[in-house]
Amino acid sequence: MVEKRYEWADGAKLEEHSRRKHKILREYVFDYLTVRCRLPQQERFRLAIVDGFAGGGRYQCGSLGSPLIFIEELKRAVEAVNTQRAVQGLGAVEVECLLVFNDANRDAIELLKTHVAPMQAEASQSCPKLHLRVEYLNEFFEAAYPDIKSLLGQGRYRSVIFNLDQCGHSHVERNTILDIMHSYPAAEIFYTFVISSLLAFLQKDQPERLRAQLDHLGLTSNDIQALDALMSQKDWLGTAEKIVFDAFRLCAPYVSPFSINNPGGWRYWLIHFANAYRARQVYNNILHDNASLQAHFGRSGLNMLSYDPKHDEGMLYLFDISGRVSAKNQLLGDIPRLIMECGDAMPVMDFYESIYNITPAHADDVHAAIIETQTLR
Ligand SMILES: C[S@@+](CC[C@H](N)C(=O)[O-])C[C@H]1O[C@@H](n2cnc3c(N)ncnc32)[C@H](O)[C@@H]1O
Repeated sequence: MVEKRYEWADGAKLEEHSRRKHKILREYVFDYLTVRCRLPQQERFRLAIVDGFAGGGRYQCGSLGSPLIFIEELKRAVEAVNTQRAVQGLGAVEVECLLVFNDANRDAIELLKTHVAPMQAEASQSCPKLHLRVEYLNEFFEAAYPDIKSLLGQGRYRSVIFNLDQCGHSHVERNTILDIMHSYPAAEIFYTFVISSLLAFLQKDQPERLRAQLDHLGLTSNDIQALDALMSQKDWLGTAEKIVFDAFRLCAPYVSPFSINNPGGWRYWLIHFANAYRARQVYNNILHDNASLQAHFGRSGLNMLSYDPKHDEGMLYLFDISGRVSAKNQLLGDIPRLIMECGDAMPVMDFYESIYNITPAHADDVHAAIIETQTLR
């Protein structure tokens, strides 16, 4: 596959799948900060955001790129958190954020600096509770990773978000994903890739396994080019999610396998890795607030990938109202079954920890099913 080159200096074009990804990132950062600054006695919160494939900061159409979205949302969230705290009679929280922006393209990084500087200056004027420090790197991500780790280590950051918005699939090693998830107690990664690049990698790395996974679509693993014609079929989406989940499930306790929704063909994936169930809960809720930005095919309750395409009917779940109706129905059966498998009672925390890697459901639908079935004590 020929990789897309970004000509930042002449104005890069914002593709539809990137626009959708930006909306998710934007809302996630806002909600993340709201959740992490909730303790009444809290005075300070520290985090680091690493944008490993940062780009030039602005697109031809004027839309912001991911680094500027991070700054804008941090500012908006710090203001909202502190307004809310003032209403509750609580003290303000100071937020310290290290932003590490890396891109292999020198033009991109130089252009990015010109966009970030005024925004950073404005944020420090208008939002004194937000303290931003920005570091720039101009390397291939894998070459930059040791320096990134050392910056995070010097600052003893425990809460770290990586945005790995690569072109293709091959610019981030699996071991690096594992290292990130193991190095920081509250690590999260947004990881983007093109499914055809992942398949090409698996074709070399695990040909037999891939052949078995693609078998029911009537394809062999040598036939990947032929997949292009199938990419808008729901069955393809279900199969691809299983392949994605299988490829990454050991990288983190919580791995979302959802594709960026594009009924013209499910080609681009945005997956979220997290160490804590709460992060995945926030992520699932954001997808529901933005129905049809991401897509899932399979079950909508627990065990979302457990349907068998040869025997079961999966469904397209677009995180919308009609999907939620079916999720509620499935959860009414799935939740009591899960509890029964453990005996007849289960601590609430264990319950959340055991479900959030296996469901696309909204927290409200999970809670409604718990109340209706009176399963948790
Ligand atoms: C999809 S664009 C990034 C867009 C940006 N994250 C945004 O949302 O606005 C991918 C960027 O990765 C850069 N790039 C390509 N290969 C890279 C590598 N191995 N390491 C770091 N950057 C790379 C390109 O120069 C390009 O700017």
